[in-house]
Amino acid sequence: MSRIPLIVGNWKLHKTIRETSDFCRSLKEELLSGPNGPALREKKAEAAVAPPFTALSAAAQALENSPFHVSSQDAFWAEGGAFTGEISPKMLADAGCRFAIVGHSERRQFFHETDESVNKKAAALAAQGLIPIVCVGETLKERQEGQAFPVVERQIAEGLKGLAGMKPDALVIAYEPVWAIGTGQTATPEQAQEIQAFIRGLLEKIFSGPTAGGMRILYGGSVKADNIAELMAMKDVDGALVGGASLEVKSFARIVNGCIPNK
Ligand code: PGA
Repeated sequence: MSRIPLIVGNWKLHKTIRETSDFCRSLKEELLSGPNGPALREKKAEAAVAPPFTALSAAAQALENSPFHVSSQDAFWAEGGAFTGEISPKMLADAGCRFAIVGHSERRQFFHETDESVNKKAAALAAQGLIPIVCVGETLKERQEGQAFPVVERQIAEGLKGLAGMKPDALVIAYEPVWAIGTGQTATPEQAQEIQAFIRGLLEKIFSGPTAGGMRILYGGSVKADNIAELMAMKDVDGALVGGASLEVKSFARIVNGCIPNK
Protein backbone atom coordinates (compact mmCIF):
# COMPACT_ATOMS: atom_id res chain seq x y z
CA MET A 1 0.00 0.00 0.00
CA SER A 2 1.41 3.41 -0.88
CA ARG A 3 2.13 5.75 2.00
CA ILE A 4 2.45 9.51 1.56
CA PRO A 5 5.80 10.68 2.95
CA LEU A 6 5.50 12.93 5.99
CA ILE A 7 8.08 15.29 7.49
CA VAL A 8 7.33 16.84 10.89
CA GLY A 9 9.48 19.59 12.41
CA ASN A 10 9.59 19.26 16.19
CA TRP A 11 10.67 22.68 17.41
CA LYS A 12 10.80 21.69 21.11
CA LEU A 13 11.27 24.75 23.36
CA HIS A 14 12.04 27.19 20.54
CA LYS A 15 10.38 30.13 18.77
CA THR A 16 8.06 32.92 19.78
CA ILE A 17 4.76 33.71 18.09
CA ARG A 18 6.41 36.22 15.77
CA GLU A 19 9.23 33.85 14.85
CA THR A 20 6.69 31.13 14.14
CA SER A 21 4.62 33.30 11.78
CA ASP A 22 7.73 34.45 9.93
CA PHE A 23 9.02 30.89 9.63
CA CYS A 24 5.71 29.55 8.29
CA ARG A 25 5.37 32.31 5.69
CA SER A 26 8.92 31.78 4.47
CA LEU A 27 8.46 28.01 4.41
CA LYS A 28 5.40 28.32 2.15
CA GLU A 29 7.32 30.65 -0.13
CA GLU A 30 10.42 28.47 -0.22
CA LEU A 31 8.60 25.19 -0.86
CA LEU A 32 5.66 26.21 -3.01
CA SER A 33 7.64 28.37 -5.41
CA GLY A 34 10.32 25.67 -5.72
CA PRO A 35 10.46 22.74 -8.14
CA ASN A 36 8.38 20.54 -5.81
CA GLY A 37 5.59 23.09 -5.33
CA PRO A 38 3.17 21.21 -7.63
CA ALA A 39 3.95 17.83 -6.00
CA LEU A 40 3.32 19.32 -2.54
CA ARG A 41 0.05 20.90 -3.65
CA GLU A 42 -0.99 17.51 -5.03
CA LYS A 43 -0.15 15.92 -1.66
CA LYS A 44 2.59 13.67 -2.99
CA ALA A 45 4.27 14.43 0.34
CA GLU A 46 3.11 16.14 3.54
CA ALA A 47 4.88 18.42 5.98
CA ALA A 48 3.98 19.81 9.39
CA VAL A 49 5.57 22.03 12.00
CA ALA A 50 5.21 21.47 15.75
CA PRO A 51 5.73 24.79 17.56
CA PRO A 52 5.25 25.31 21.29
CA PHE A 53 1.62 25.59 22.46
CA THR A 54 1.73 29.40 22.54
CA ALA A 55 2.46 29.59 18.81
CA LEU A 56 0.10 26.90 17.48
CA SER A 57 -2.62 29.31 16.34
CA ALA A 58 -0.08 31.62 14.75
CA ALA A 59 1.33 28.69 12.77
CA ALA A 60 -2.16 27.57 11.75
CA GLN A 61 -3.03 31.08 10.59
CA ALA A 62 0.18 31.52 8.63
CA LEU A 63 -0.25 28.11 6.96
CA GLU A 64 -3.96 28.50 6.18
CA ASN A 65 -4.83 27.53 2.59
CA SER A 66 -1.46 25.84 2.17
CA PRO A 67 -0.74 22.10 2.00
CA PHE A 68 1.20 22.28 5.30
CA HIS A 69 -0.06 21.23 8.71
CA VAL A 70 0.41 22.05 12.38
CA SER A 71 1.20 19.59 15.16
CA SER A 72 1.42 20.05 18.91
CA GLN A 73 4.32 18.54 20.87
CA ASP A 74 2.08 16.94 23.49
CA ALA A 75 -1.54 16.81 24.70
CA PHE A 76 -3.51 15.85 27.78
CA TRP A 77 -6.22 13.21 27.65
CA ALA A 78 -9.12 14.90 29.45
CA GLU A 79 -11.49 17.15 27.55
CA GLY A 80 -11.67 19.60 30.42
CA GLY A 81 -11.58 19.81 34.21
CA ALA A 82 -9.31 20.68 37.11
CA PHE A 83 -5.95 19.93 35.43
CA THR A 84 -3.88 23.07 35.84
CA GLY A 85 -1.39 23.60 33.08
CA GLU A 86 -2.74 21.01 30.65
CA ILE A 87 -4.09 21.34 27.10
CA SER A 88 -6.88 19.11 25.75
CA PRO A 89 -7.19 17.55 22.29
CA LYS A 90 -10.27 19.72 21.73
CA MET A 91 -8.21 22.87 22.41
CA LEU A 92 -5.52 21.65 20.02
CA ALA A 93 -8.09 21.06 17.28
CA ASP A 94 -9.47 24.52 17.99
CA ALA A 95 -5.97 26.01 17.62
CA GLY A 96 -5.69 24.43 14.15
CA CYS A 97 -3.67 21.28 14.84
CA ARG A 98 -3.95 18.19 12.69
CA PHE A 99 -1.29 16.13 14.46
CA ALA A 100 -0.04 15.81 18.06
CA ILE A 101 3.27 14.25 19.08
CA VAL A 102 2.95 11.99 22.13
CA GLY A 103 5.50 10.00 24.10
CA HIS A 104 8.55 11.88 22.86
CA SER A 105 11.60 10.53 24.69
CA GLU A 106 12.26 13.94 26.27
CA ARG A 107 8.79 13.80 27.82
CA ARG A 108 9.38 10.22 28.95
CA GLN A 109 12.76 11.21 30.42
CA PHE A 110 12.03 14.63 31.98
CA PHE A 111 8.25 14.72 32.53
CA HIS A 112 7.37 11.22 33.73
CA GLU A 113 5.56 10.18 30.55
CA THR A 114 4.68 6.47 30.67
CA ASP A 115 3.32 3.99 28.14
CA GLU A 116 0.02 4.25 29.98
CA SER A 117 -0.20 8.05 29.68
CA VAL A 118 0.88 7.83 26.04
CA ASN A 119 -1.97 5.40 25.46
CA LYS A 120 -4.56 7.67 27.12
CA LYS A 121 -3.32 10.65 25.14
CA ALA A 122 -3.33 8.79 21.82
CA ALA A 123 -6.87 7.53 22.43
CA ALA A 124 -8.16 10.99 23.39
CA LEU A 125 -6.52 12.60 20.36
CA ALA A 126 -7.96 10.00 18.00
CA ALA A 127 -11.43 10.51 19.52
CA GLN A 128 -11.07 14.20 18.71
CA GLY A 129 -10.10 13.43 15.10
CA LEU A 130 -6.47 14.46 15.59
CA ILE A 131 -3.63 12.23 14.38
CA PRO A 132 -1.33 11.11 17.20
CA ILE A 133 2.36 10.74 16.32
CA VAL A 134 3.34 8.12 18.88
CA CYS A 135 7.09 8.12 19.58
CA VAL A 136 8.96 4.98 20.55
CA GLY A 137 12.65 4.13 20.78
CA GLU A 138 15.33 2.59 22.92
CA THR A 139 18.12 4.27 24.91
CA LEU A 140 21.79 3.58 24.22
CA LYS A 141 22.00 1.35 27.30
CA GLU A 142 18.97 -0.65 26.19
CA ARG A 143 20.49 -1.10 22.70
CA GLN A 144 23.83 -2.17 24.13
CA GLU A 145 22.05 -4.70 26.34
CA GLY A 146 20.24 -6.16 23.33
CA GLN A 147 16.92 -4.76 24.53
CA ALA A 148 15.98 -2.55 21.57
CA PHE A 149 13.35 -4.92 20.18
CA PRO A 150 11.59 -5.77 23.48
CA VAL A 151 11.55 -2.09 24.54
CA VAL A 152 9.96 -0.98 21.27
CA GLU A 153 7.57 -3.92 21.39
CA ARG A 154 6.40 -2.92 24.87
CA GLN A 155 6.03 0.76 23.94
CA ILE A 156 3.93 -0.15 20.89
CA ALA A 157 1.79 -2.76 22.66
CA GLU A 158 1.09 -0.59 25.70
CA GLY A 159 0.89 2.71 23.85
CA LEU A 160 -1.65 1.46 21.32
CA LYS A 161 -3.82 -0.61 23.66
CA GLY A 162 -7.49 -0.41 22.71
CA LEU A 163 -6.82 1.44 19.47
CA ALA A 164 -7.27 -1.52 17.12
CA GLY A 165 -10.11 0.11 15.20
CA MET A 166 -7.99 2.90 13.73
CA LYS A 167 -7.79 3.73 10.04
CA PRO A 168 -4.34 3.76 8.36
CA ASP A 169 -4.12 7.54 8.12
CA ALA A 170 -5.35 8.15 11.69
CA LEU A 171 -2.10 7.17 13.41
CA VAL A 172 1.60 7.83 12.83
CA ILE A 173 4.47 6.09 14.64
CA ALA A 174 7.86 7.75 15.06
CA TYR A 175 10.83 5.51 15.77
CA GLU A 176 13.39 7.67 17.54
CA PRO A 177 16.36 5.85 19.04
CA VAL A 178 17.15 8.02 22.06
CA TRP A 179 20.90 7.77 21.38
CA ALA A 180 20.39 9.47 18.01
CA ILE A 181 18.34 12.46 19.21
CA GLY A 182 20.25 15.73 19.15
CA THR A 183 23.57 13.89 19.15
CA GLY A 184 24.41 14.17 15.46
CA GLN A 185 24.65 10.38 15.51
CA THR A 186 21.95 9.21 13.08
CA ALA A 187 20.98 5.55 13.03
CA THR A 188 22.18 3.97 9.81
CA PRO A 189 19.41 3.51 7.26
CA GLU A 190 19.73 -0.26 7.87
CA GLN A 191 19.34 0.16 11.65
CA ALA A 192 16.25 2.31 11.12
CA GLN A 193 14.80 -0.16 8.60
CA GLU A 194 15.41 -3.13 10.87
CA ILE A 195 13.40 -1.68 13.75
CA GLN A 196 10.79 -0.05 11.54
CA ALA A 197 10.09 -3.34 9.73
CA PHE A 198 9.72 -4.91 13.18
CA ILE A 199 7.28 -2.12 14.15
CA ARG A 200 5.27 -2.74 10.96
CA GLY A 201 5.03 -6.40 12.00
CA LEU A 202 3.77 -5.36 15.45
CA LEU A 203 1.19 -3.06 13.84
CA GLU A 204 0.01 -5.99 11.71
CA LYS A 205 -0.76 -7.92 14.88
CA ILE A 206 -2.79 -5.03 16.32
CA PHE A 207 -4.50 -3.82 13.15
CA SER A 208 -5.31 -5.73 9.98
CA GLY A 209 -2.51 -6.24 7.42
CA PRO A 210 -3.79 -3.57 4.99
CA THR A 211 -4.26 -1.05 7.81
CA ALA A 212 -0.73 -1.62 9.13
CA GLY A 213 0.55 -1.46 5.56
CA GLY A 214 -0.96 2.00 5.16
CA MET A 215 0.30 3.46 8.45
CA ARG A 216 3.25 5.79 8.33
CA ILE A 217 6.33 5.09 10.41
CA LEU A 218 8.72 8.04 10.68
CA TYR A 219 12.36 7.92 11.67
CA GLY A 220 13.70 10.56 14.06
CA GLY A 221 17.16 11.32 15.42
CA SER A 222 19.64 13.71 13.79
CA VAL A 223 17.83 13.80 10.45
CA LYS A 224 19.37 16.40 8.14
CA ALA A 225 19.14 17.41 4.51
CA ASP A 226 22.14 15.21 3.69
CA ASN A 227 20.78 11.99 5.16
CA ILE A 228 17.05 12.18 4.39
CA ALA A 229 17.35 10.55 0.95
CA GLU A 230 19.18 7.45 2.19
CA LEU A 231 16.70 7.05 5.05
CA MET A 232 13.70 7.50 2.73
CA ALA A 233 15.14 4.81 0.43
CA MET A 234 14.34 2.25 3.14
CA LYS A 235 11.10 0.33 2.64
CA ASP A 236 9.58 1.07 6.05
CA VAL A 237 10.80 4.64 6.52
CA ASP A 238 7.85 6.83 5.52
CA GLY A 239 9.16 10.19 6.62
CA ALA A 240 10.94 11.89 9.49
CA LEU A 241 10.47 13.65 12.79
CA VAL A 242 13.12 16.37 12.71
CA GLY A 243 14.36 18.38 15.68
CA GLY A 244 17.41 20.63 15.30
CA ALA A 245 17.37 20.73 11.50
CA SER A 246 13.72 21.89 11.46
CA LEU A 247 14.48 25.23 13.10
CA GLU A 248 15.72 26.94 9.95
CA VAL A 249 13.51 27.36 6.92
CA LYS A 250 16.10 26.43 4.32
CA SER A 251 17.30 23.35 6.16
CA PHE A 252 13.74 22.14 6.88
CA ALA A 253 12.65 22.84 3.30
CA ARG A 254 15.59 20.81 1.97
CA ILE A 255 14.48 17.87 4.11
CA VAL A 256 10.88 18.18 2.86
CA ASN A 257 12.15 18.36 -0.73
CA GLY A 258 14.33 15.32 -0.04
CA CYS A 259 11.35 13.14 0.87
CA ILE A 260 9.41 13.70 -2.33
CA PRO A 261 9.17 10.52 -4.36
CA ASN A 262 10.58 10.71 -7.88
CA LYS A 263 7.37 10.18 -9.84
P1 PGA B 1 16.98 15.87 16.42
O1 PGA B 1 15.63 15.64 17.27
O2 PGA B 1 16.58 15.86 14.95
O3 PGA B 1 17.50 17.20 16.86
O4 PGA B 1 17.90 14.74 16.72
C1 PGA B 1 14.65 14.73 16.84
C2 PGA B 1 13.51 14.70 17.83
O5 PGA B 1 13.74 14.84 19.04
O6 PGA B 1 12.33 14.54 17.44
